[in-house]
Amino acid sequence: MALQPFQWKDRPALIEHLFPVQKISAESFKEQMAGSGKTLTTLGSYWKGRKPLILNKACIIGALLPVTDDLLKDLEIFELIMGIASSSLRIRLKENLPASKHDSVNGYLEKPYNEQVRSAKRPEEVGNSLFAGIWPKVNAHLGTSANSIEELVEQIGVARFGHRPKVADVFSGSGQIPFEAARIGCDVYASDLNPIACMLTWGDFNIVGAPTEKRSKLESIQKKLAFEVEQEIERLGIESDGSGWRGKVYLYCNEVICPESGWRVPLLPSLIISNGFKVIAKLKPIPTQKRYDIDICYVDQEEVDAAKIGTVQDGDLVHSPDGINVYRTSIKSIRGDYREGNQNKNKLRLWERSDFIPRPADIFQERLYCVQWMKQRPNAKTFDYVFRSVTQEDLQRELLVIEHVKSRLSNWQDAGFIPDMLIEKGYNTDQPIRERGWTYWHHLFNPRQLLTIALVRQKLVAETAFVLTSLVDNNSRLCRWNNSASKGAGGNTSNTFDSQALNTLYNYGTRSFANMKNFFSPQYKSFPISGFGNVKNHQAKEINVVNDIYVTDPPYGDAVKYEEVTEFFIAWLRKNPPKEFADWSWDSRRSLAIKGEDEGFRNGMIGTYRSMAAHMPDNGIQILMFTHQSGSIWADMANIIWASGLQVTAAWYVVTETDAAIQDGAHVKGTIILVLRKRHKTLETFRDDLGWEIEQAVKSQVESLVGLDQRVRSLGTERLYTDADLQMAGYAAALKVLTAYSNIDGKDMVREAEAPRQKGRKTFVDELIDFAVQTAVQFLVPAGFEKSEWQKLKGIERFYLKMVDMEHQGAKSLDNYQNFAKALKVHNFDVLMSDASKANSARLKISSELKSSLMAGEAEIAGTPLRALLYALFELSKETEIEEVLAHLMDNCPNYLANKNLLVKMAEYIATKRESLKSTKTFTPEKEASCARVLAEAIRNQRL
Ligand SMILES: C[S@@+](CC[C@H](N)C(=O)[O-])C[C@H]1O[C@@H](n2cnc3c(N)ncnc32)[C@H](O)[C@@H]1O
Repeated sequence: MALQPFQWKDRPALIEHLFPVQKISAESFKEQMAGSGKTLTTLGSYWKGRKPLILNKACIIGALLPVTDDLLKDLEIFELIMGIASSSLRIRLKENLPASKHDSVNGYLEKPYNEQVRSAKRPEEVGNSLFAGIWPKVNAHLGTSANSIEELVEQIGVARFGHRPKVADVFSGSGQIPFEAARIGCDVYASDLNPIACMLTWGDFNIVGAPTEKRSKLESIQKKLAFEVEQEIERLGIESDGSGWRGKVYLYCNEVICPESGWRVPLLPSLIISNGFKVIAKLKPIPTQKRYDIDICYVDQEEVDAAKIGTVQDGDLVHSPDGINVYRTSIKSIRGDYREGNQNKNKLRLWERSDFIPRPADIFQERLYCVQWMKQRPNAKTFDYVFRSVTQEDLQRELLVIEHVKSRLSNWQDAGFIPDMLIEKGYNTDQPIRERGWTYWHHLFNPRQLLTIALVRQKLVAETAFVLTSLVDNNSRLCRWNNSASKGAGGNTSNTFDSQALNTLYNYGTRSFANMKNFFSPQYKSFPISGFGNVKNHQAKEINVVNDIYVTDPPYGDAVKYEEVTEFFIAWLRKNPPKEFADWSWDSRRSLAIKGEDEGFRNGMIGTYRSMAAHMPDNGIQILMFTHQSGSIWADMANIIWASGLQVTAAWYVVTETDAAIQDGAHVKGTIILVLRKRHKTLETFRDDLGWEIEQAVKSQVESLVGLDQRVRSLGTERLYTDADLQMAGYAAALKVLTAYSNIDGKDMVREAEAPRQKGRKTFVDELIDFAVQTAVQFLVPAGFEKSEWQKLKGIERFYLKMVDMEHQGAKSLDNYQNFAKALKVHNFDVLMSDASKANSARLKISSELKSSLMAGEAEIAGTPLRALLYALFELSKETEIEEVLAHLMDNCPNYLANKNLLVKMAEYIATKRESLKSTKTFTPEKEASCARVLAEAIRNQRL
């Protein structure tokens, strides 16, 4: 019999009890590493911090599926639906490996999961065939009659909510969550404050999710656009040299007057034009005019190497007109930097609306100094390339472009074809104003760039808005010229948002139309989606329709200031936007954006989550994702959840970010997933009772996870959870207990949560959270230690020992170390880390690396039994006599006699955890392990 409406109305969701975080992490990581192979990225690669689709799917499916009495079976079914079961991996591996390797698939399946995933296709790349065989099993377990994910989702939606599930994301960003929700068959509500976010989400549905016919129509629109723009450029004759060569890249640099010599000098951080082609710029002094000609020369490697040093060195302008006298002046002083009060100012003229090139008296002039040309070879698809000095004809063409833009600028600005939007000051947006005097967004583009983009902008329709944004991103004055490229096509410019900032450049590249043609035919992926909702542009707290499930990724401590950097694009679209986008407010509305971590952030979040709770049925469920950086997250989140009338029912930790994101300065690697429900009851408790309750909750949560883990492992598969996951589960359990109460010690928790913070003062909620986290951490005692013993250790000792265990389990991410350090109140764990530690390959120093450091003084570990023990291991590794080692240990370890047993335990623990690790030249864990065994034995047998 089919599932009845509301049959599962109050069933707990699977994600409230289990979630295979290790597998989901491996899958998320794989997706993030796919670069341009990611499903939605082609629409806007400038949007960073996309939440992996596979994670979004896991959250939604996990929120829909019920838990039954048979957790193991629940897990199996969930993994089949996600395409992450071992039977699914078999298919995914076969799809990815060449036929000659199909026989070895069994071998792959014995490898650790993340290695299997590495060699397999992503589930979404395989498509429906991955799920073809799962339905009998799934239907038998769930009582459904589905033949596809969409059908399953609909049937479960009916059983839970009486209809197809309505899923909303009110912080939709690039639309990763709404797109996935729609793809698996939910009814979707997507909204964001930022119109660029709305546009990306619109594109997800209407381009990537478009039916095939619509896609072919789009392709012809794009082709037509490219053709028309090309015709116009050809008509103007601004990109050809008249003898068959077409411009590919135009290189520009700033030029300033050197105040010491009075010479006009180009600002070139490097004189290399192309490493691959061995081309450099040579400065040829023209003493009569006190300026340099720039000759573009093909040279040998030696000269290329010498050309690394340009006229900008460590922030100074350096040049020598006669090759003898060297002039050096700081660019800051040329710019006239000075301080007024606490503000940085300078003497740059602020550009006006009608400016688009420097005026003759401006400090920074701009000059074309090289052109790379291309020419198609006869009867071939390949090109020849050449770099040439700038000729009189080139300069004529430059003038033509300038005149063309100048005569139209004002009209084009009125019509919205070129921005006339002021740059509002801000963290990122101050930079172009301060460094170049640019005050309008169009100042970030030179005449050639303005001209080509304006031609596209004139013919804009919604579908080609994505062509426009990629042109804008790839052709601005902030596009770095990449001179290190190997031969090939001689390199290209990088995009503006290769960093998430608005860094100005002394020299940059401008692409010709011919060199941007591929942006007119982007290779969007295609996943036709049948139904989808509209995209709304409003503040999250203004949500006014009811949804069953909310999945949100709010701007928590965002490393990227979307509200600022997207103005770069907004400026190009705000006037006369395509009709599909016309209802949106074409303004980043910075003041309404939720940001930062202070009071404004908390209030914004509380308003939003309260509103969502009010627009959710009683059995609705919320998934709140956030990457975490600061230590106050738990308290922040508890406040928000309390104040919005929600409570936590589970929490998970998934690794989502790629290494590249970390290099960009965001030291975030994981995403915390909180599962929230409405807080229905008004429960009261007292602080004294909470300790016990939290401990029980942590205990049962951890035991349930460990239990499931053991059962899974007894079936021969990998562990589901590492200690870090258990730790997170511990915190979550603590939050779960806390947020279930509306009144603690007679205090109304909603009011407490709303109360403003006072700097440096802990609130009642902070104290409760500290207490809860502490209880959770203390409960997690490593095997082999007694609870009482473990609690006696200092935080830093517990940290070291915990991390020894994590390393034994194969964990390597620096993030883990940070988490544990925070939880154990370790202030300075860096001193214990190997010097070679990186975000993704971190490890502790072993005794032979610590040597005799940190034995005394301020270090947290100084003077502890563990430090004494590690020193003893170091001595043993140097083959010091055991008697002498023991004598030193007795001196170094406080209360040696009382701590003797503990020392033996720690030594044995280190031996067990270290012996299985592989040694390298500098890292010798096996040796550490054997010394630890010897030492444990010696301490135990020591006669005193
Ligand atoms: C972390 S991003 C979401 C990223 C998204 N999940 C993705 O995968 O691309 C947060 C989003 O919240 C939006 N936002 C910030 N303040 C907002 C507000 N008050 N109302 C609605 N959206 C807001 C930002 O524009 C941004 O798109």
